[in-house]
Amino acid sequence: MKRMGKILVLFTVMILCSVAAFAAPKTWVVGFSQIGSESEWRTADTISVQNAFNEDPSFILIYSDAQQRQENQIKALRSFVQRKVNCILFTALVETGYGPVLAEAQKAKIPVIMIDRDVAKEDQKYRLTIMGSNFIEEGKKVGKWLADYLKKNGKDDGTTQINIAELQGTTGSAPAIERAEGFREFMKDHPNWKITRSQTGNFTSSEGKAVMEAFLKADKNIDVLYAHNDQMALGAIQAIKEAGLQPGKDIIIVSVDAVKGAFEAMVAGELNASIECNPLLGPQAVQAVRDLRDGKKLPAKIYTIEGVFDETNAAAALPTRQY
Ligand code: AHR
Repeated sequence: MKRMGKILVLFTVMILCSVAAFAAPKTWVVGFSQIGSESEWRTADTISVQNAFNEDPSFILIYSDAQQRQENQIKALRSFVQRKVNCILFTALVETGYGPVLAEAQKAKIPVIMIDRDVAKEDQKYRLTIMGSNFIEEGKKVGKWLADYLKKNGKDDGTTQINIAELQGTTGSAPAIERAEGFREFMKDHPNWKITRSQTGNFTSSEGKAVMEAFLKADKNIDVLYAHNDQMALGAIQAIKEAGLQPGKDIIIVSVDAVKGAFEAMVAGELNASIECNPLLGPQAVQAVRDLRDGKKLPAKIYTIEGVFDETNAAAALPTRQY
């Protein structure tokens, strides 16, 4: 009888162990190639992805910071392939130049999920999906906000030229290309709007400031500043103040991201609007990798839902902003 009891206990333990082994998800190693830390936005994005993966013990995240250098990203991607990671998360600094290394990942059957910035059309066959913002829409939203604002304030009669200075993001990057494209698309219905100055500020505050200083030295007739991100707008605001002008009044300023610094500037009346670009992609990214591990098919595009903020709603939203 005693012996029977022992066998029963052993049998139950064996069943429990095999059920546990069956239920526990397989540990996956995920490589994440990030571009750097050029903005508040980027820092929030990196932390969001790291936290989401670190909270789930069935994932090991290998993080690589390219420090704004494409060659560092290519090296990181190649090392992920050599280490035979289960999946690669990748934010492309610029759109072109990654074809060969992405082909290597595909050959090694390692799925690549783009986060935030995509690669050029011809290389999209190497990646599984892209999650993040619709940059063309963001450019259009800038145009729409500006049209509404000018109309509401009686500042656009439809014929007098509106002079627009543009601070572009990193040359060749998806957000710089598409935010420029979306805005120009919207401008087609406003023939009196003219982009009189346009230069890259590389998505950083220091370059945004330097380029704005140069714009102001060369040009006294800037009505509007469109900055491809808040960080450059915040740098430009400094330059405008140092030139003895009032940002947000003498020059209307609209930018993209909606980071906390932009909210503070909006509440202070120095930035007129910011179009939201959500950097908190970690939860979506970890879910996509889980689905992939479970054998589910991922959609070709996973867009985030985003808003528009200006003087009418910035103060109310500021306390709840997470980035
Ligand atoms: O790719 C997203 C852009 O990159 C954000 O607008 C910007 O702040 C960041 O540097």
